[in-house]
Amino acid sequence: MAGARASAPGKVILFGEHAVVYGEPAIAVALSLRTEVTIREGGDQHRVNGAPMTPYHHAFIKDAVEGLWKGGGPLDIRTDSRVPSASGLGSSAALSVATTACLLQMLGQFGEERCAREAYAAEVSAQKARGSPTDTSTVTHGRAVLVDREKGPGFLWDIARGERRWFLHHVEMPPLTLVIGNSMQRGRTSEEVAKVGRFVKKTGFAREVIRDLGKITREAVELIQDREKLALGVKMDEAHDLLTILGVSTPKLNDMCAAAREHAYGAKLTGSGGGGSMIALTDTPEPCAKAIAKKGGVPIVVQLGGAGVSASSL
Ligand code: PMV
Repeated sequence: MAGARASAPGKVILFGEHAVVYGEPAIAVALSLRTEVTIREGGDQHRVNGAPMTPYHHAFIKDAVEGLWKGGGPLDIRTDSRVPSASGLGSSAALSVATTACLLQMLGQFGEERCAREAYAAEVSAQKARGSPTDTSTVTHGRAVLVDREKGPGFLWDIARGERRWFLHHVEMPPLTLVIGNSMQRGRTSEEVAKVGRFVKKTGFAREVIRDLGKITREAVELIQDREKLALGVKMDEAHDLLTILGVSTPKLNDMCAAAREHAYGAKLTGSGGGGSMIALTDTPEPCAKAIAKKGGVPIVVQLGGAGVSASSL
């Protein structure tokens, strides 16, 4: 009986979350924390970790299976994730991508670009068509990815949804140390994206904030290449303030960022917000992590730029 195993990393968005949904650029980086998925054919119905697959409990897996395994027999799906869920660290993208990679491997069709496209299609269907392909493409390609509205150096692939089209690029990332602080408050990407969507629809002011976030990301791309950590930290603080204006930060994330800044070049929330995580750029991760923990966050020190998805047959 056919089967496959795949592994995909979590990610953090360094710059550009939310703004990327409206065509502004974003930079995201893969983590060393990973999600493993194993799929075997067999059984009486599709099962995930032994339980029947349901749309409520297994939205991302179900949409990947329904997209790719049409008319195929029952599957026994096992997942094992080191990426904390609902924390802005790409857990759902890692799950979608690893599941998609397994299915493509079983169909003899696995490849990076195909995997990124199919996993994004599964996320769009699970999240009711709201987000950008930033997470799924970063988790697929690994290392660091720049999402932009036009083709540039390091171009990987482009992905469209409705009127919007995103161009994904590989970017070289110098070895930077980040401390991630998980607020342990659940953030729901689709709700935060929808909330920003309502704000953007109602006011020109919100659209201006989105454009300012885009400008910061473009400046950050240059600063990353030049390893200008001091200036990058300033951009992170500015981006956090703008995301706060958009209404996606929380008092706890603000406290964690303020405490981390005492030992860091800068700090900001990462991902959709509404809970989830923040990141701090620092050369002194230990005191920075302690300061985050003092505010009730769970710190993780990470080196950026983990490998992308991998898949093999069983
Ligand atoms: O919460 P996360 O880690 O899934 O990040 C979502 C990033 C957003 O820009 C808010 C939405 C998107 O799809 O790009």
